[in-house]
Amino acid sequence: CGIIGYTGHRPAIPAIVEGLRRLEYRGYDSAGVAYEEPQGLKVIRAEGKLGALDQKIAGLDTASSVCGVGHTRWATHGLPVERNAHPHMDGDGKFALVHNGIIENYAELKAELVAEGHVFLSETDTEVLVHVIAKGVELTGDVRRGISWALSRVDGAYAFALLSREHPGKIWASRKASPLLMGIGTGENFLASDIPAFLPYTREVVFLDNGELVEIDAASWQVFDSLTLEPKVKEVKHISWDVQAAQKDGFKHFMLKEIFEQPKVIRDCLTGRIQKGRVVLPELDALNVPQRLTVVACGTSYHAGLWAKYLLESWARIPVQVEIASEFRYRDSVFLPGDLVLTISQSGETADTLAAIRIAREAGVPILGLCNVVGSSIARESDAVVYTQAGPEISVASTKAMCSQMVLLLLMTLSWGVRKGVLQGEILERCLHDLPLLPDQLEAELPTIREKAKTLSQEYADARSFFFLGRGQNFPLALEGALKLKEISYIHAEGYAAGEMKHGPIALIDQHFPTFAMALGDELLQKVASNLQEVQARGGRIIALVNPGASPAVENPWVLSDAWGPLKSFLVLPAVQLFAYEMAVYLGKDVDQPRNLAKSVTVE
Ligand code: G6P
Repeated sequence: CGIIGYTGHRPAIPAIVEGLRRLEYRGYDSAGVAYEEPQGLKVIRAEGKLGALDQKIAGLDTASSVCGVGHTRWATHGLPVERNAHPHMDGDGKFALVHNGIIENYAELKAELVAEGHVFLSETDTEVLVHVIAKGVELTGDVRRGISWALSRVDGAYAFALLSREHPGKIWASRKASPLLMGIGTGENFLASDIPAFLPYTREVVFLDNGELVEIDAASWQVFDSLTLEPKVKEVKHISWDVQAAQKDGFKHFMLKEIFEQPKVIRDCLTGRIQKGRVVLPELDALNVPQRLTVVACGTSYHAGLWAKYLLESWARIPVQVEIASEFRYRDSVFLPGDLVLTISQSGETADTLAAIRIAREAGVPILGLCNVVGSSIARESDAVVYTQAGPEISVASTKAMCSQMVLLLLMTLSWGVRKGVLQGEILERCLHDLPLLPDQLEAELPTIREKAKTLSQEYADARSFFFLGRGQNFPLALEGALKLKEISYIHAEGYAAGEMKHGPIALIDQHFPTFAMALGDELLQKVASNLQEVQARGGRIIALVNPGASPAVENPWVLSDAWGPLKSFLVLPAVQLFAYEMAVYLGKDVDQPRNLAKSVTVE
C-alpha cells in the first residue's frame, strides 16, 4: 500500500491524488482520501484504480481544504471493495486513518472493542487500529499520548497517518516495519511511503525510523519516540533525483522504458567502479571476505542471486546458498563463523527480506545489502550497503533492477576473488575489458531484440503454457523469463533446469506447450541441444536464444550477438523481458500494473 499526508497552504486533495498516482506501484486495488471540511472530516473512497477515485472527487468542492491524507491499497485483510478501502474512521467520526502494514493482533483487539460497544463497518485491521487510537485519546485526553497508548497495545507492522477533527491542520503519523518519510516544504509538510509522492513540491526529506511518532502542521514538524514520547532530533536530507526521472520519457510503458534504460544502468553501475584494472568497491572494505555466503531475496532479486551463485563459486571460490526470504525467515538456519548474509532488494522495503536481516542480526552474522532505493529500510538495517544505481523503477515487473544487481554482483565476485587471491588473471582482465563495452553493444541491439520479440510473441500468443529452459547461469534467467511472462501476460510459464526435464516435466510436452530455451554458445550448449532434441521428439515447438553460428536445429532460433562468458546474460535478460512485454501488449494486458501484484510488498 501507499500512504500520503499533506498539510500546508495549497488545496490538499489535488496534491494528495497526484502523490497517490506516483505511489500506485505500491498497490492499486482501491484508493481513498480524507480531508477537513467545516462540518468535520470527510472520507471519499473508491474501488479499483485511482481514476475511479478521481471521478468521485471531481463533483465535490474540495478547494478550501488544505490538510488531508490519502491511500492506495493492496488488499491484505478483506476484499478489495470500497467498504474495506482506506481511510477508516473511528465510530464517532473524530479520526480518519490511512495505514500500510498488518496489525497482527487485530482480531483480539477487535473482540475487546466490540465487547465495549464499538461498531465496525469493515473487515480491516486498519479500522481496528483507528478505534484503538480513539480509545487511547479518550483515556489520556491527548492525541499524542493516545496514539502512544494504542501503539503499546498493537503488534505487527504499520506506517499510518491520522487526521483529528478537533485539530484542523495537524497530522500524526508513526511507523514500525513499514516505510514512511516526511517531506519538508515551505509553509507545507508531507508524509508519504516513498519520495516520488512529494517530489514536485520538495526535495528535503526526513527518513523516519521504526518506533517514531510525528506530529506535523503547515509550519512545523516534531518527531518523538512513539512509546516514551521523548522528542527526537532528526536530520533533513536533500534528494537529488528529479520528477522527470520517474516519468515515461516517450515510451508507451514504464516497463519498456526501463528495459531500454539497461545500457545506461550498466554504465551507471560501472562508473567509478573500475579503475586502473581494479574493481573499486569501498563499501566492502569493512567486511571480511565471506567464508560462506547466504543470499536472501524475493522475486526477481532472488533470480539475480541465483545467477551470481555460479560466478561466486567458480571465480571467488565462496560457497553460496541462495534463499527465498519467506522460507529463510522461518527456517532454523545454521550459521558458521565467517558467514555473511547478502540481501538483494530493488525497493529495500520487502517485508520478508527485511525479516531475514533481523534474523541474521540476532544470530550475529554481518549483513550486506544490495539495494536500489537510497535510505530504504534494508539499506539502513544492513551493516554495509552497495547501491545499484538503476534509478527509480516504476513498472511493477522488475527489469532494469535485475540488470543492475547482476553488474554489481559480478563486480563483488571479482573484488572478493582478488582479495582471496583465487581469481585467475585472465578472467579478471577479460571481464574488466569487456564489461565497459557491453552498454554500447546492448544499445545497438535492443531495437532488433524488440522486433524479434514482437514477431515471436504474436506467433506464440495462443500458447496456454510455456517452459523456459536453461542450464548453468542460464537456468536463473530461464526462471526470470518464466516469471516475467506470468506476471504481465498471465500465460502460465515454468522455468526449469533443462537437464531436469526428463525427470517428469517432459510429460507435459505436446504441440500446444511450447518451450523457450537458452541455447547460447557456451560449454553447456551440447547438453542443452540434447535436451531440446528430447523436447522436439515429443512434438514440442521451440524458440531458442542462440549465438551466431552455434544454433541447435529448432523451429525458431533467435540469434543474439555474442559476448564473453557470463556477459552473454546481459543480452539474454532483455530478450526474455521483451518477449514477455510484447506478449502482454499483444494480448492487451495492463503491462505496468498487472493484476494482483504490487511493486513493493511491505507485508508478509
Ligand atoms: C514484488 C515485485 C517483484 C520483485 C519482488 C522483490 O513481488 O512485484 O517485481 O521482484 O517484489 O522486490 P525487491 O524490491 O525486494 O527486489
